[in-house]
Amino acid sequence: MTTLGTPLSPSATKVMLLGSGELGKEVLIALQRLGVETIAVDRYEHAPGQQVAHHARTITMSDPAQLKALIEAERPQWVVPEIEAIATPMLEALEAAGTVRVVPTARAARLTMDREGIRRLAAETLQLPTSPYRFCDSLAELQAAIEGEDGQAGIGYPCIVKPVMSSSGKGQSKIDGPADVAKAWDYAMAGGRVQGGRVIVEGFIDFDYEITLLTVRAQSAEKGAGIQTHFCEPIGHVQVNGDYVESWQPQRMTPQALAAAQHVAKTVTDNLGQGLDGQPSGLGLYGVELFVKGDQVWFSEVSPRPHDTGLVTLCTQNQSEFELHARAILGLPVDTRLRNPGASAVIYGGVDAKGIAFDGIEEALALPDTDLRLFGKPESFVKRRMGVALARSTDGGTDSARATAKLAASKVKPRA
Ligand SMILES: Nc1ncnc2c1ncn2[C@@H]1O[C@H](COP(=O)(O)OP(=O)(O)OP(=O)(O)O)[C@@H](O)[C@H]1O
Ligand SMILES: [Mg+2]
Repeated sequence: MTTLGTPLSPSATKVMLLGSGELGKEVLIALQRLGVETIAVDRYEHAPGQQVAHHARTITMSDPAQLKALIEAERPQWVVPEIEAIATPMLEALEAAGTVRVVPTARAARLTMDREGIRRLAAETLQLPTSPYRFCDSLAELQAAIEGEDGQAGIGYPCIVKPVMSSSGKGQSKIDGPADVAKAWDYAMAGGRVQGGRVIVEGFIDFDYEITLLTVRAQSAEKGAGIQTHFCEPIGHVQVNGDYVESWQPQRMTPQALAAAQHVAKTVTDNLGQGLDGQPSGLGLYGVELFVKGDQVWFSEVSPRPHDTGLVTLCTQNQSEFELHARAILGLPVDTRLRNPGASAVIYGGVDAKGIAFDGIEEALALPDTDLRLFGKPESFVKRRMGVALARSTDGGTDSARATAKLAASKVKPRA
């Protein structure tokens, strides 16, 4: 049974977000609406989520001592990781000691912060279909992994190299032939979250389209029915250099591909959701990334939290992915139904400057059935995501919504 208290009083239900970017900001707003007391943590001040929370804290979240001190001082009931770069072994220790509950689980946060942890779990433990892959610690190992050695076949060309610790396409590049290998290695070394880290090299999957399948583990509304898994309609998206530029919902799929995608998503989230001592655990929303060709589906990766491509759900679902995450965390019932098709298009900073201004907002919002989110990030970079344009479909399809979302995004003109 869920009881919610009054914020800023002894009865408060307290939730701490670790990472308070645009996705965390929407989760915080959803929590605020339920009267939850919120603590927004980030590595820099005035992060988007810190602007809408009861409390803002700025620490280095990858530093175990700072993380422990903050959690012990604030004593939230739940800690909700929004980013990957967190001292996750410390979260596991605090969860095991009963100090705090980590969403969905501390183990899920640890396994998914590192491409090796989640890939080995999915491909080797759970036997789910993935691209062929190898892990390498040097340029020589990378060359051998691609070309093959000792009579063993290699991954071959084309392939993709990624630092094991990185996100949003950082340090990631495609290799089309032997001439690209050294460049890809250097690029990965410069782009990883930790110095001198390892890389994963993956065979290139020639997919028809890729999706994010938002998957929610929520307490059933029926007494004693335990945790149930719910799926949102699949989200299609386009990535440029490993970063999402537009998304739409629903992505049309064959019934076979949809069934395969749901099977993969259920298998991986069931595992990540396993709690200590088999306790019902792992509540929350997950973004399962999949590649699809015809009826065939490959697992790519999973975020144990709302997904950037899921920003589209702010204009398509009865409950956005952020509301679903908030409700699931609190043990409340969820509704994953689509309300109407729609699309999202990213608004980039276009300039390197602090405290930028946005022109063209009227033109964007004058387009029927559109909406905007400007995240309020204190500093803009040319390729930093500063906002998103949303468009609801008026004709039942996603093509017109995609065009409208891109048009609305193009009307917004950031300037220094
Ligand atoms: N093996 C592959 N075959 C084909 N395309 C791939 C492969 N791996 C990655 N990609 C493309 O690159 C994109 C980003 O890859 P991935 O999701 O692994 O990186 P990421 O840095 O974690 O990105 P993000 O954090 O934005 O999800 C994928 O969405 C896909 O478009
Ligand atoms: Mg990804």
